[in-house]
Amino acid sequence: MSELTDKLKKDIESFKINSREELEHFRLTYLSKKGRVSSLLGKIGSIAAEERKLFGQKVNAVKKLAHDKLEEAEQRLHKSQKTSRKATDDISLPASSLSLGVAHPLSQTLTRIKDVFYRLGFSIADGPEVEDDFHNFTALNFPPEHPARDMQDTFFIKKSDDPNTDDLVLRTHTSPVQIRLMKNGTPPFRSIMPGRVYRNESITAKSYCLFHQVEGLYVDKNVSLAELKDTLIMFVEMIYGEGVRYRIRPSFFPFTEPSLEMDIWWGDDETGKWLEILGAGMVHPNVLQSVGVDPEEYRGFAFGMGVERIAMLFYGIDDIRLLYDNDLRFLQQFQ
Ligand code: DAH
Repeated sequence: MSELTDKLKKDIESFKINSREELEHFRLTYLSKKGRVSSLLGKIGSIAAEERKLFGQKVNAVKKLAHDKLEEAEQRLHKSQKTSRKATDDISLPASSLSLGVAHPLSQTLTRIKDVFYRLGFSIADGPEVEDDFHNFTALNFPPEHPARDMQDTFFIKKSDDPNTDDLVLRTHTSPVQIRLMKNGTPPFRSIMPGRVYRNESITAKSYCLFHQVEGLYVDKNVSLAELKDTLIMFVEMIYGEGVRYRIRPSFFPFTEPSLEMDIWWGDDETGKWLEILGAGMVHPNVLQSVGVDPEEYRGFAFGMGVERIAMLFYGIDDIRLLYDNDLRFLQQFQ
């Protein structure tokens, strides 16, 4: 009787399963109801009693062998199906290149700006984009109803009818971060405050409803206007090179006195024009007072620059809207 099980065992072992079809053929031949394993088991009844036990054990061992082989083949075929190549694949072709992205020109510009002020000893601070009226205007010496508020129209949200609760605004500038910084610390302060700001302005080649600023604040005992000018000149020379054509002219902001603006020449000598990149000035005593810094003891300078303007001048971009279109043909030029 053991010849039968031995023969079956040999056949199972030598059966080659290399495809789905062969797998199915194997299963039908050996493990289906009418397969060879079942038919051997069916013979048990006709075996002499003393041989029966041994025979049963042998058939069961063969059955297990067939099952294991089936399982192994199933897994092997499943795996190779996942990784198999088509005959038409040319494996000698060079691999397709990975396309590397680049930092957005605004991010690159911001990194350059931060780098300059880092070298000048400024730390970095930030504040919320959704501000309250107090931080965005009142503490910066824009009294309620003051016409200077019209310079910076934004998106207002009325929180409640109670005149004592502040309206919310999308901040119009990064200057409110000066207030937060000074309220939460003690002088001296020397920080830059980068971030996104919002204005209710018509969208043109030069202005957009959102943009980025870098605010700067330096408050200490003897800070002077000369130091402000020096800092700003050093800044533009470090960004644009020493030959950069700039001018500094008087201006007005409620939170500085005196106030100034800095322009950079845009274009060639005859047809170019001045483009404003920042406002600045000596921090107004009322501002210091609103945050509990004694204006008799401390003085400071502050500035706020437009990152988009600085980037446009740096790269020669003539339309601000290009910076927000996310057009790859534009962005890929900033490798
Ligand atoms: N916040 C002003 C603006 O958005 C810019 C500015 C001017 C910031 C003078 C300053 C400053 O810190 O001193 O137009």
